[in-house]
Amino acid sequence: MYGELPTPTPTGSQVLVKVDAVAVNPIDTYIRSGMVPMNLPNPFIVGCDLAGVVEAVGPNVTHHKKGDRVWGSNQGLLGRQGTFAEHVVADEIWLYRIPEGVSDEQAAAVALVGITAHLGLVREAKLQKGDIIFINGGSGGVGSTVIQMAKAMGARVVATAGSDEKAQACRKLGADLAINYKTQDIEAVTKKFAPVGVNIWWETTREPNFERTVSLLAPRGRMILMAGREARPVFPVGPFYVKGCSLHGFVMFAASPDEQRMCAVDINRWLAEGKLQAKIDRVMPLSETAKAHKLQEESTVGKTGTLAGKIVLKP
Ligand SMILES: NC(=O)c1ccc[n+]([C@@H]2O[C@H](COP(=O)([O-])OP(=O)(O)OC[C@H]3O[C@@H](n4cnc5c(N)ncnc54)[C@H](OP(=O)(O)O)[C@@H]3O)[C@@H](O)[C@H]2O)c1
Repeated sequence: MYGELPTPTPTGSQVLVKVDAVAVNPIDTYIRSGMVPMNLPNPFIVGCDLAGVVEAVGPNVTHHKKGDRVWGSNQGLLGRQGTFAEHVVADEIWLYRIPEGVSDEQAAAVALVGITAHLGLVREAKLQKGDIIFINGGSGGVGSTVIQMAKAMGARVVATAGSDEKAQACRKLGADLAINYKTQDIEAVTKKFAPVGVNIWWETTREPNFERTVSLLAPRGRMILMAGREARPVFPVGPFYVKGCSLHGFVMFAASPDEQRMCAVDINRWLAEGKLQAKIDRVMPLSETAKAHKLQEESTVGKTGTLAGKIVLKP
């Protein structure tokens, strides 16, 4: 439902943001549909990500003031109200300054996927300069961000995509090798590029194929798992532990405010340096949120692959 609600008033350490852009994430649709049950306010506004201008601050706010341009994520879940509105109140712990020269659309679109990519690469996989990382789903919201961050951190990047155009877009973002997963032999092409295996495998699809991944991982390889709540795949225990590999699963929304802020510091630096750019598929009016959710669901869960990146909405 799209309609009017009173403008919220910031209290304590809350900030009132006049929203200029928000972005859709698959989790917004899971929460809205009830697929991921969460404790939520009523009435509930969907959405995790936002960018805009501070309009007022609560009495205990120390980091932000009226007129600051800010972005943030991790709203619309765990009891917190969502962001798809003209005005949002969020605790200041979840908000970061937008670097000069970076648009609100970019800042909103990079928010959740940027924090996710950073947590996975830095906290979980401990990516080192020179590592080879394989990103299964390099054309998506998360994958396109992981490609750019991994490059910024000095990795060699292999990414998959569902069409030649999307593979080309992965190369443009910095992938050293982009594979069309529908027409090319992933094992053969990857083994040629990385004969000893890949150091990190980042899985973005909801049905991981462990047989393939474990065979392509290098000794001491790390695998990132962050999608597919329903998935119950077969796991090749022997080859995995003998190679000394490790599995790292996580959800970004469970990271602490301090952990997320550390991600935001690097994200802001890479945005300012032009090393990171959100891949925006399309911009829509906020009144078309229902249509945007349907599109995101069809593309991510229905695997139509209609989208190539983020949907941004403007109030
Ligand atoms: N754990 C967390 O904290 C966290 C955070 C963010 C997202 N997620 C989850 O991560 C997943 C990806 O999110 P997203 O925002 O990146 O979604 P997205 O933008 O829809 O991207 C999905 C990606 O999967 C690729 N793909 C689909 N089928 C594939 C296949 N058979 N082989 C290889 N790649 C395939 C798509 O490629 P083509 O379009 O080129 O076909 C696309 O690159 C979602 O399930 C989301 O819920 C989790």
